[in-house]
Parts: sequence; C-alpha cells; structure tokens
Amino acid sequence: MWRKIFGSGNKTSVDREETVPFELTVDRASMPRHIAIVMDGNGRWAKSQGKSRSAGHEEGARTLKRIVRAASDMGVEVLTVYAFSTENWKRPKLEVDFLLKLFDSFLEKELAEMHAEQVRLHFIGRRDRFTERFQQRMADAEQLMAQNTGIHFNLAANYGSQDEILRAVRSIAERAAAGEIAPEEIDEEFFSNALDTAGDPPVDLFIRTSGDLRLSNFLLWQSAYAELYFTETHWPDFTAEELARAIQDFAGRSRRFGGLDAEE
Ligand code: IPE
Ligand code: IPE
Ligand code: MG
Repeated sequence: MWRKIFGSGNKTSVDREETVPFELTVDRASMPRHIAIVMDGNGRWAKSQGKSRSAGHEEGARTLKRIVRAASDMGVEVLTVYAFSTENWKRPKLEVDFLLKLFDSFLEKELAEMHAEQVRLHFIGRRDRFTERFQQRMADAEQLMAQNTGIHFNLAANYGSQDEILRAVRSIAERAAAGEIAPEEIDEEFFSNALDTAGDPPVDLFIRTSGDLRLSNFLLWQSAYAELYFTETHWPDFTAEELARAIQDFAGRSRRFGGLDAEE
C-alpha cells in the first residue's frame, strides 16, 4: 500500500494555506491516470448564498485553482475540466461575457504560478469563436508551458464532444481524400490522436458536481470506459478532500472492461 498524507501544514507559499487538508490511501496502480470534471453548480451555489451568478463563477474559479494543485499533489497525470460548453452560448450575453472575462483574468492571474509548479496547460474545444487576442493568449500560455513536466491540465473552453468528433472526422476525411492516409489505418488509436486530447490516456474517473446525472456532451469518446462519480456538492464547495474521496471510491471499484474479475 502506498500511503500519502497531504495537508496545508507542509505547504510553503502563502497561497497554499487555502489548501484543504486531505488524506489519500491508494495503491499507486489503482490511481486514476486521467480525471475529468464537469464543474457544475456555480449558479445554484450562488443562489443558496443569496449572491449573483457571477459571484458563483468567481468562487468556482478559486475552487479550480485549488483542485488543479490538489490533483497535481495527488499524482494525477491528466486533469480535464469543463469550463464552457458549445451549448453555453445560449446563456444571456451578460453571463457569457462575464465568463469570457473570467477565463482571461484566470489566465493572467494564475499562469505564472501554474508554470512555476510545472503544470502543462492545454485548451480543448474550438477556438475560432474567441477574440484574436484571447486566442493568442491561449497559444502563448500553451507554448510557455509545453515543456513542463507536471500535471497535464486541459481546460475545455467552447468545447463539445460532438463538435470535437466531427472536427476530427472532417480532418481525417480530408487527409484520406488527398491520399495521405488509407481508410484501414484509421483505428481507435489513430482516431484518439485526432481529438483535442491527443496523446492523453483515456478518462478513468469522470466527476460531475451539483447533482445532475448527465454527461452534457463532455469527452464522450474519451470516457467510453470511465468510472462515473456524481456528487451533490456544488462546484464552489468542492474540496481536495472530496477529490480524494472520489479517487478512493474509484480505487475500490472493479473495472472489468467487458472481461471478468481475476478470481472468476
Ligand atoms: C457551471 O455552473 C459553470 C458553467 C456552465 C460555465 P452553472 O453556471 O451551470 O451552474 P448551475 O448549473 O446553473 O447551478
Ligand atoms: C456543463 O454544465 C458545462 C460546464 C460545466 C461548463 P451545464 O450547466 O451547461 O450543463 P446542463 O445545461 O446542465 O446540461
Ligand atoms: Mg449547470
């Protein structure tokens, strides 16, 4: 058994004092390599506190910062979070504009620290609906952190799984039509590498906060065999401790992948 106890006590910088103590007792081989999170419930959290939806999103951004750090401390290889879906443009313009500004300020405020902590940031989703300036900022951040050796942090912005799959299919079809690839070369690995998450292992643990029992167009291909974890906790209240509980729960599950348990 591999035992590791983490907490705010062994953190150094001032910011790290925010980290909620947690304990994780998981055998290294049972750790999820890739965790996906649908960060839902900012609005419901805000309502329960008598605050504006914007205040809920701001609190959600603070939670995100803590969870990236916690996942990294726990030894998770890849963390992919759903920040804005291709469907979220349906929201009132004021809320959409607020969210776009929040991504921008999140990048501005957190980039240096994430970089110093060896986080490798990557954006997934379609970028062409963002301003040139923001697209440039995304590209610069990715380039800056491309050689980092720590957690691979995918931020899904204007992301929809069906849109991602269609973009991949189109680009493969174009290459096939141009004679660059033969149709029989297109297997699961080839297709996975045509997605925005190219190079990442499949999702092991899929978490959704705030109680709704749906996937909402997030990582459908990548989560084909993911273990699902739903919690009533609204995203702003989600803690490192609860992430550790989800991992602990995951580690106790029997993943058969269509086969049988070893003892059967
Ligand atoms: C998740 O919280 C954040 C985004 C979708 C951007 P919501 O804003 O969906 O919160 P609820 O679901 O209304 O509570
Ligand atoms: C999913 O949450 C998208 C994000 C968390 C960014 P939504 O709140 O948009 O999903 P639905 O509307 O409940 O399916
Ligand atoms: Mg929601």
